[in-house]
Amino acid sequence: MRNPPGAAFAHRYGPVALIAGASEGIGAAFARELAAAGLHLVLVARRDAPLAALGKELRAAHEVDVRTLPCDLAEPAATDAITGACRGLEIGLLVYNAAASSVGRFLDTPLDAHLRAVHVNARGPVLLAHAFGGPMAARGRGGIVLMSSLTAFQGTPFVASYGATKAFNLVLAEGLWSELKERGVDVLACCAGATLTPGYERATPPRAGFRFAPSPQDPVDVAREALDALGHRPLVVTGRGNRIASFVMRRIFTRRLAVATMGREMRKRYD
Ligand SMILES: NC(=O)c1ccc[n+]([C@@H]2O[C@H](COP(=O)([O-])OP(=O)(O)OC[C@H]3O[C@@H](n4cnc5c(N)ncnc54)[C@H](OP(=O)(O)O)[C@@H]3O)[C@@H](O)[C@H]2O)c1
Repeated sequence: MRNPPGAAFAHRYGPVALIAGASEGIGAAFARELAAAGLHLVLVARRDAPLAALGKELRAAHEVDVRTLPCDLAEPAATDAITGACRGLEIGLLVYNAAASSVGRFLDTPLDAHLRAVHVNARGPVLLAHAFGGPMAARGRGGIVLMSSLTAFQGTPFVASYGATKAFNLVLAEGLWSELKERGVDVLACCAGATLTPGYERATPPRAGFRFAPSPQDPVDVAREALDALGHRPLVVTGRGNRIASFVMRRIFTRRLAVATMGREMRKRYD
């Protein structure tokens, strides 16, 4: 069993971490890892009950302060609600984990669902990285983790707009990694593959998996790999199988072949 991040991590990225999208899955795994490292937490998601339960669990287990803030990151007022709830707190780490996704043909999916993905997955990280990156840069230390996905690396039918937002996260994080490192702020894009979260299980039909896809990862492993990579590189692809798959798709296949391969697999599963 691997140890949680140590005192140097808490010194660099503490005292408080803000996790956007923390009520379950990978976000909750980040919360457990960071609380074990001694960071206080602000946890954001739409549903109050799972946030409150997680907060109670972490306060009892690690003697950290945990504030919970139920709010919808698709709403323009969310940023003010979050910055208001964080007033007076030194947020040393922002993890933007929340995502809206819908699987289906682009034209058969209501426009609102596509726009919701743009608002939650793309506008949200810009707003929060801007709001909290400034104070981090002024202090000369801090970290920002943006959750991306293997869908960031090529167009993927049936999740075209979701994949495009994940490419946005990747490119935003890489640009900020370069720009903010001289101001002491580490930025990371975390590209996960299939991960066994409640959200993944709700969206995935109970049929055979992708023919060539690596096995789904445990959310805890995704969070740990991201926190280990923060400060060392701009991008981490989590899981050995995902690293091999993404190497083949990005470095060996042409882009056209990569899109066609994803298309074949997605059609088998969702068409
Ligand atoms: N799971 C996978 O297979 C996989 C693969 C690649 C990348 N990823 C990425 O990893 C991240 C986490 O995925 P996941 O599967 O753990 O979870 P998810 O089902 O996408 O939800 C993540 C968290 O975000 C919250 N959330 C969603 N929409 C929100 C909104 N509008 N406002 C506030 N909070 C919101 C959810 O809680 P509430 O419902 O309570 O709001 C939940 O706590 C996402 O960025 C996703 O793109 C996941």
